[in-house]
Amino acid sequence: MQLTTDRLDLVPLDPDRDAESLFAMYSDPEYDRYGPNEPTADVAATRRRLAEMLRANGGWTWVLRLRPRTEALGTIGIFADQGTTIRGLSWGLRRDHWGRGLMGEAAPVVIDHLLAQPGIDGVEAWIDTRNTRSIGVARRARLAERATLARVYPDHTAQQVVMARAAEPGDCDVLAARPNLPVRDVRQTGRLLTRVLGLTVLFEYGDPPTFARLGVAPWTGSAGVDLSAADGVIACATVSFDIGIPTDVMYRRAAESGVTIDMQPVDQPWGTREFVFSLPEGHRVRIIGPVRPAGDAAAHSSVVVNVLPTG
Ligand SMILES: CC(C)(COP(=O)(O)OP(=O)(O)OC[C@H]1O[C@@H](n2cnc3c(N)ncnc32)[C@H](O)[C@@H]1OP(=O)(O)O)[C@@H](O)C(=O)NCCC(=O)NCCS
Repeated sequence: MQLTTDRLDLVPLDPDRDAESLFAMYSDPEYDRYGPNEPTADVAATRRRLAEMLRANGGWTWVLRLRPRTEALGTIGIFADQGTTIRGLSWGLRRDHWGRGLMGEAAPVVIDHLLAQPGIDGVEAWIDTRNTRSIGVARRARLAERATLARVYPDHTAQQVVMARAAEPGDCDVLAARPNLPVRDVRQTGRLLTRVLGLTVLFEYGDPPTFARLGVAPWTGSAGVDLSAADGVIACATVSFDIGIPTDVMYRRAAESGVTIDMQPVDQPWGTREFVFSLPEGHRVRIIGPVRPAGDAAAHSSVVVNVLPTG
């Protein structure tokens, strides 16, 4: 279905018709600076890429045309159907048209249309935190920041925000999981966890503290972990943390802080790199981080680690 905005016609993508003008976008190395694809080599490769996109997403891609011109200046649509009712968004424009508010004009109309479809309960865009133009587009379309993910590029690790909007706005019943660890020394454990994990002490209660709340960020309501003073026999728990910096960087911090390392960094088959250390009471802290960039493995192979026996 064709959609319109003040300046634009949004027309369903046709790979045969649009490949030639969209080749200018897909062949531009700057276009996919924050994406996974190599620039396309020629118009035929662009046509194949567009046809594959339509096959995978069931035809949900529009091209942007600036009236009265009829060539395609960019695309906006959803990614392949992964069997969920939350659909991933993708948008891009030829560089000679960036910064004129075109995608910021197209996205709200397309997203309103998508969210009115049966079978789509929400849409989300994963955007590199440095891609400020794209974040601006998401905000224009009333997408809100919901989460942060680690992102591995061939030569470095970065982070991306998950910007999302639900068809039916509503509050979640649960706001965050908050494990509570009984420990013998709340202040010392808090210092250790802030040093290794970069957590923030949101507040402490008592002097010496009998309770502390640690957050992943300094903001009110941030997810994190609570510490409660305890003595006697302490039942040990495992707490996992998703991290957004290279796993081996945090591993070095942990090793240097003198904690007991239970498991050195290991690449998991589900696409994360993880290690485990213990707190003095025996609680295990599992760090779940990004795998190493492809060009980075050698740089980390010589890391000297302080491996102690598990308790
Ligand atoms: C992302 C992209 C589609 C934005 O399209 P666009 O039409 O240039 O976007 P707009 O002109 O509507 O501007 C979007 C925001 O960027 C801001 N912006 C404009 N020029 C900017 C600049 N030079 N630097 C930083 N931000 C800028 C705008 O002010 C706007 O934010 P606002 O709504 O808060 O004012 C385009 O840059 C692109 O194709 N990039 C490459 C592909 C890509 O990154 N896709 C998204 C992957 S998640």
